[in-house]
Amino acid sequence: MDSVVNYSEIIEIEELGDERGLLTVLEGNKSIPFGINRIFYIYNTITGVRRGFHAHYKTRQALVCVSGNCKVYLDNIKRKTDVLLDSPTKVLILEPNDWHEMYDFSADCVLLVLASHLYDAEDYIRDYEKFKEVYGG
Ligand code: TYD
Repeated sequence: MDSVVNYSEIIEIEELGDERGLLTVLEGNKSIPFGINRIFYIYNTITGVRRGFHAHYKTRQALVCVSGNCKVYLDNIKRKTDVLLDSPTKVLILEPNDWHEMYDFSADCVLLVLASHLYDAEDYIRDYEKFKEVYGG
């Protein structure tokens, strides 16, 4: 396993707008720093629910609240942070070694996730002890 720890980052995407309203564009291998192979969205989340609780071996992800807001707890062992996603122009890039938990979803939250790989249950690290073993250095 590569011992280099990559860091998550927040990207601000330009908002395109005119008298009709607003439009924001996300492009694979351009504004999003990887090719996009999968898109899913999380919505109608029950109040108080916390979800995620995993890292990956290879999948990179981009998270954006296209409606409402939520928070993301990140832990890459070297750094633990909480990020507020509260704008359709604020995109959080998650690296495979970012253990992440999403919480405090607003009732109107639609969390859009762009992923670099197709769904593969084998690419998930859901056990925190295993996560530390893989990425702890
Ligand atoms: P899960 O990974 O538990 O969601 P979260 O990490 O946000 O808490 O996913 C919920 C269910 O959806 C689980 O049975 C796996 C399935 N799923 C897919 O089939 N494909 C996907 O791309 C994703 C993200 C989940």
